[in-house]
Amino acid sequence: MSNTPERSRTRRRFLKMLGASPLIAGSSMLAGGLADLLRAEPLEEKHFAGWLENLQQQSDSVISSPDQALNVMDFEPAARKNIPPAHWGYLATGVDDDATVRANHEGYSRIQIRSRRLVDVTNIDMSRSIFGVKWDTPIVLSPVGAQKAFHPDGELGVARAARTKGHLMLLSGVATASIEDSIAARGGPVWQQLYPTNVWEVCRAIVKRAEKAGAPAVVLTVDLQDGSNRETLFRSQRVDKRQCSMCHAGAFTPFARGRTGAAPTSGGFAGFTARKPMFDGLDVSKVTSLHGLATTWDFVKQLRDTVKVKLLIKGIVTREDAQLAVEHGVDGLIVSNHGGRAEDTLRPTIESLPEVLDGVAGKVPVIVDGGVRRGTDIFKALALGATAVGIGRPHSWGLGAFGQAGVEAVLEIYRRELRSIMRQAGTTSLDRISRDYIVSRPT
Ligand SMILES: Cc1cc2nc3c(=O)[nH]c(=O)nc-3n(C[C@H](O)[C@H](O)[C@H](O)COP(=O)(O)O)c2cc1C
Repeated sequence: MSNTPERSRTRRRFLKMLGASPLIAGSSMLAGGLADLLRAEPLEEKHFAGWLENLQQQSDSVISSPDQALNVMDFEPAARKNIPPAHWGYLATGVDDDATVRANHEGYSRIQIRSRRLVDVTNIDMSRSIFGVKWDTPIVLSPVGAQKAFHPDGELGVARAARTKGHLMLLSGVATASIEDSIAARGGPVWQQLYPTNVWEVCRAIVKRAEKAGAPAVVLTVDLQDGSNRETLFRSQRVDKRQCSMCHAGAFTPFARGRTGAAPTSGGFAGFTARKPMFDGLDVSKVTSLHGLATTWDFVKQLRDTVKVKLLIKGIVTREDAQLAVEHGVDGLIVSNHGGRAEDTLRPTIESLPEVLDGVAGKVPVIVDGGVRRGTDIFKALALGATAVGIGRPHSWGLGAFGQAGVEAVLEIYRRELRSIMRQAGTTSLDRISRDYIVSRPT
């Protein structure tokens, strides 16, 4: 085959088109390979063939059962195969360039581990107490909305996996399962995550329902304002040919208003709540914002006076806000940037953690999430002083790939990797993992 400039241009156009598809955009490896290829000038036959071979190898290497996974990342392509494009976009997306999604994980690579030798590591104790409850590990399931979009097991599959493996689960305020059903499936308490909304009575009713159901903690998420620019999601919605209105009743517009051109079929969040059980039975006609654009520390005060169980705030990334939270009587914090889905700050949560810990000065527990993909990441967060570590996307990859069994396998891999690095580093219990065991990577 001759390599004429015209043929090269055609290939380049074809590759650009491929690059715009969520199939490629969601895989960092393929997207990177494609970008390299497009940079290659001229676009030679061997480059093109090499890239295609890489694509083939990737699809051949997708795991077909949970036990084939070597690490939690192996679940990502397997989930992607099963999940419809728009739902995949919802799971994968960050904001703008998705740079904070990548930064969250890359942040861990700037911390090195200082392993100690000649320690008896026969017995490893990974247990951690949070608010007086002892958990087998410090690995927590962060709240992820609408998990039935990834697998029919949805949040109840996650809850059952949390039960089997003994993990703390946080239920999203926009979950596709109720707190009552989740607690039943978990066979024990589940924490309730909460979005403020712009209507106090709606927010209060959700809190009271969660308390009545037995949730021992309410977690207020404060890092989202309406209108995050989730381009990966918007791109994948474009290629999804299914009729969204069949499930969403015209109501995922609160997240995408102005982009799809569609308007809610009825006032406020009526359609939206049709699939979100925590809003069942509530008058949502005045709810125009899930995130409550006017939410301030006065709201936290009001909420503190209302919540009788533990109250945490999720989404704190600065010392100043950490101090204010403690002053407002909050019982705990989650350092989070919503997995890079809020704003593209480029600041990894692991780099926000130290100043938040300074701000709380040991007065309340601090959990961190975002980009945790390895047992060594968990080790580093604990070494900096985190009480526990949350995982978001990876448990949804497990769910999307294999339902409950996939979530269990993801949790097992994190546990195995954490145990392994604790042995290697010579730390027999979580209390022993201190700043002495880490050092910044030399620049
Ligand atoms: C698809 C998806 C939905 C999410 N839904 C919620 C939510 O409803 N409430 C919330 O507080 N955080 C939500 N988050 C953020 C997670 O709780 C968590 O902070 C984040 O996923 C951690 O980053 P990671 O995905 O890199 O582990 C969501 C994240 C994803 C990926």
